[in-house]
Formats: sequence, structure tokens, C-alpha cells
Amino acid sequence: MEQLIETLRTQRDLSDEELTALITRESDDKDLFAAADAVRREHYGTDVFLRGLIEFTNVCQNDCYYCGIRKSNAQAQRYRLTQEQILHSCENGYRMGFRTFVLQGGEDPRNTDAWVCSMVDKIKTAHPDCAVTLSIGEQSRASYQAYFEAGADRYLLRHETASDAHYRRLHPKEMSLANRKRCLFDLKEIGYQVGAGFMVGSPWQTPKELVADLRFLQELQPDMIGIGPFIPHHETPFADKQPGTLELTLRMLSILRLLFPYVLLPATTALGTISPIGRELGLKAGANVMMPNLTPTDARKHYDLYDNKICMDEEAAKCRLCQEGRVRSVGYQIVSDRGDVRR
Ligand code: 5AD
Ligand code: FES
Repeated sequence: MEQLIETLRTQRDLSDEELTALITRESDDKDLFAAADAVRREHYGTDVFLRGLIEFTNVCQNDCYYCGIRKSNAQAQRYRLTQEQILHSCENGYRMGFRTFVLQGGEDPRNTDAWVCSMVDKIKTAHPDCAVTLSIGEQSRASYQAYFEAGADRYLLRHETASDAHYRRLHPKEMSLANRKRCLFDLKEIGYQVGAGFMVGSPWQTPKELVADLRFLQELQPDMIGIGPFIPHHETPFADKQPGTLELTLRMLSILRLLFPYVLLPATTALGTISPIGRELGLKAGANVMMPNLTPTDARKHYDLYDNKICMDEEAAKCRLCQEGRVRSVGYQIVSDRGDVRR
């Protein structure tokens, strides 16, 4: 097994069989984490980048079976932040040292090109030294182009699973993996720094699906990869499904760091939700990004994608401080900069 890790580290690749062996191995992963951490230190030292997350709308026209803000969840209390509220959150974040803002939301019909472009333009005008990341789902190429011209720098759109058959079991028939991929390649061509990613332990996922995810990422060559465990939400069709595990999520983080040494890899909120030290362990396994929540707390509690999501009541400043301590506790430090990819 040590040989496999060494091959992965030096060749930055393995065969499907070897990846499967690594994904399914029974030993503890100290050696894998250490290899991933060494590669992370070569490229990023002990730096951890911050992204201020602003969950600006939980209105969504999609109906993904796993997601708590799917349109069929009549229990969800819907909200939309105004542009003023969003700018205010950025202001607050800027004072705390954030130099990247992630505007994330459901596929909300309010997100017209005009609305999104004016929002991006206002943030970039107020904070020209900051990066703006959008995470607002599948849109037309023309819309992506318009946001980019308005000043958006990056785009996050997890592919969720790179297997067609698996994708169809997680989404209603109106959605397709083909369109998801089309979006990701359009975003790259337009010139965004692009993030893709997947859930670990989603229903019916096997090592075969995970290998397909890694192969798709090799084809896409994204700048960022967001992964976290699947966690059931009680008002969805997957309410009774098993969550993904901490162990497998950490293992996948390490494999991703070894396959993509330069990549920006967040220790996600979902990872912090399945274990109280999930994000710290994520950092030690190769992650180099944290995403404290800047959403005003009264809205934040309604952005519940899955059950027991952490940081639902904490003020932005508290979250920021809490994360600072967590990052330090495992020997890394937060840097106040845009945190662009180091290819
Ligand atoms: N568990 C874990 N992650 C989820 N997401 C959505 N629903 C869940 C869930 N139940 C993730 C998806 C999406 C991101 C914003 O949140 O991967 O891309
Ligand atoms: Fe939000 Fe700890 S990170 S309260």
C-alpha cells in the first residue's frame, strides 16, 4: 500500500484498479494523510485561505433529491437577501480580513443577468482587491459570460457525481449530467477559476462512482474541488439514507491533494457537521481552504441543505474567530489574501 501512495505522489496518477484499492483499503490512513500534507506544504506551505460565504437566497427551482432547499420542500422558509444586505455582509467580512466573497444560492428566478451583474459590479466597485465567486447553479453560456464581464472571478458548480446512471438517481429527470458538464466547460472557456466537486457517500455511490469522479476531474482540471459527506435532510426523499463517513471523506481529500497538488480544497461545513473536528482533520489530510459563513444569522438558519448543519446561530465574527482557532490548533495559519490558485 505504501507503494501505491508513493506512486500516486510521484506520478500523480494510478490505474482504476489501484485507485479502487486505495479507496477501499482497510488500514488506517496516517500514511496517506502525511503524503497529502507534504504535497500541500510544497505548494501552499501552511497557508489556509478564507472564503466568506454569503448564502443569499434559498429559493430554488430545482428538486435535487438530497437537498433541503429543493422546491418540493414546502416546509422550507424561503428568503432572499437584498443587494444592500449582501453588500453589508461583504463590508463586514472585509473588515474581518476576507478578500474573497462567495455568493451562493439556489437557482432562484430573481437571479436575472441584470440582477447578478449589478450585484457583482457593486461588490467589485466597493472592494476592487477582492475576488467574487458565484455559486448559483446551471445557467446559459451567455449568462456566465455576462457575469464574467461584470467582474466575477470564480464559479463553483459541483458536478455531484460523474456517473450518468448515478446522476439520474440523485436528480429529477429535468436535470442532466450532460448539462452540468456543459456548464463547467463553458465556465472554464470563458476564463473563470472553476470549482467542481461531489458528495461523498451519497446514496448508491460505490468506489466505481468515486473513480469516475476522479477521472472527470482529471479531464476538467478545475482550480477548486469541493467535497463533503452526504448528510440526509429530513424533508427530502433521502431522509432515511445513510450519511457519508468521516473516514471516506478524509481519504478522498488526500487522494485529491495527491492527484491535483495545486488545487484549492476546502474543509467544508458538511465535514464539520459529521464530526466536531472534521474540518481540522480535513486540513491535516490536504485541505487548504475554509469557508466561514457571513450570511446574516436570521437568514442563515433557513439555508439548511442537510440536517444539523453547524454555525447556524453564530455571528459572522464569531465564526471567523472560531475558524482561526481551529486552523491554528492543527498547525496552519489563515492568510488574508484573495487566495488564487498556485498552478
Ligand atoms: N448533504 C451534503 N451536501 C449537500 N449538498 C446539497 N445537499 C446536501 C446534503 N444533503 C451540497 C451539494 C451542493 C452544495 C451546495 O451542497 O453538493 O453542490
Ligand atoms: Fe462557525 Fe465555528 S466555524 S462557529
